[in-house]
Amino acid sequence: MPLHLEPGDGPPSFPDLLAAAGYRAMAAALRLGVFGALVNGPLPAPELAAELDVDPRGAGLLAEALVAFGYLEHVDGGYANTEPTRRWLSGPGYRDVDQFWAAVLFESWDGLEESLRTGRPALDFYGWLAARPETLHRFQGMLSGLADTTGAEVAGLVPVGASVLDLGGGHAKYAIRLCAEHPALRATVVDLPDALEVGRRAVDDAGLADRITLRAGDYDEIDLGADHDAVLLFNVVHGRGAAANRVLLGRVAAALRPGGVVALLELDEHAEDPSAEAFARVFSLNLFHGQGGQVYGAAEIGEWLAGAGFADTTTHPLRSAPGQSLTIARKR
Ligand SMILES: C[S@@+](CC[C@H](N)C(=O)[O-])C[C@H]1O[C@@H](n2cnc3c(N)ncnc32)[C@H](O)[C@@H]1O
Repeated sequence: MPLHLEPGDGPPSFPDLLAAAGYRAMAAALRLGVFGALVNGPLPAPELAAELDVDPRGAGLLAEALVAFGYLEHVDGGYANTEPTRRWLSGPGYRDVDQFWAAVLFESWDGLEESLRTGRPALDFYGWLAARPETLHRFQGMLSGLADTTGAEVAGLVPVGASVLDLGGGHAKYAIRLCAEHPALRATVVDLPDALEVGRRAVDDAGLADRITLRAGDYDEIDLGADHDAVLLFNVVHGRGAAANRVLLGRVAAALRPGGVVALLELDEHAEDPSAEAFARVFSLNLFHGQGGQVYGAAEIGEWLAGAGFADTTTHPLRSAPGQSLTIARKR
C-alpha cells in the first residue's frame, strides 16, 4: 500500500523527512539492483540478498522500507515490484533520471550551505560530472532523450540557413535533427571534451560526420567564427550568472551574420502545476549551488538579448515539453 501523506498539524518537516528517506532507500535499491532482481518474479528476502550479494537482514529491512513507500509489495513467494516500479524503474529509461538526481541530491548538495554563504558555487558541476563518467553519461542521456521528444518541434521553429553553431550541444541530437531536415546545412557543436564523446557516437550513428563538426572547447574562450545563420544556446544560460550570460550573448551576436538568429531553450521560470513549480525551484537552487546559475525569467533574458544587439524576440512554449520554451531573437 503506497504511503500517502496528508498535510496535517504535525511538524512541517516530517513529510519531507519521509520523502528524503524514501528517495534515499529507492536510490540504494537502484544501485544494488533490487528492482532488476525482481523482474522475473518475486523473491523472499534471503534469496533477494543472495542475488544481490548483500546482507540478508539488511535486504529484508530495505525491502520492508520499499514496501512502505510503494516500490515493492508483499506477494506469495516474497517481495515483488509494484506495477509503477515495473513500468518506470525495473529497466533502463527513467531509472537513469532517478540515479542522476540521487547523485546530485545525496552527494553534491553536501556543500549547499557554503554556496549560500558565499554566493558562489561550492561545486564545479561539470568537473564533478567529468569525475563521474556514469553520472555524466546519465546526464547527457537525459538531455538526449528530451531532445528526441522536442527535436521535431524545435527544428520547425529555428530558421537555420546554411550554418548553425550549437554551443553546449553535447549529445548533438539537435544538430543531427536539423541536418537531417536541411540537406544543405552544416553544423558545429561546441562542448567540453567528455560531453562530446556522447555526441560523437550519435553523429557517427546518424552518418553525419561530414556535415557536423564536433569542437571540444570552452564557449567562453574559443573563436566562435563569423557569419553563422543561427546559434543554439539550449539549456545553457541557466547554468551561468547574469554577467557571464551578457558577455556570451555579445560573443554570439558577433558570430552571427546580420539577420541571423540566436535560439535559447530554457525551463520556464514558473509553472501552474504545484509539482512542476516545486521542481523548478529545486532545479534553480541546484543551478545556483553547482554552477552559479538559476532559472531565469523571460523578461531578464529579453533584456540581455536587447543589450547584445538582438531584436524581434519571440518566445514559443513547447507543446512537446510543457514547461519549456524556445526563445528566438534576430541580430539587428
Ligand atoms: C545542460 S547541458 C545542455 C545540453 C544541450 N544543449 C541540451 O539542451 O540538451 C549544458 C551543456 O553545456 C556544456 N558546457 C558547460 N560549460 C561549458 C563551457 N564552458 N564550454 C562549452 N560547453 C560547456 C556541458 O558539457 C553540457 O553539455
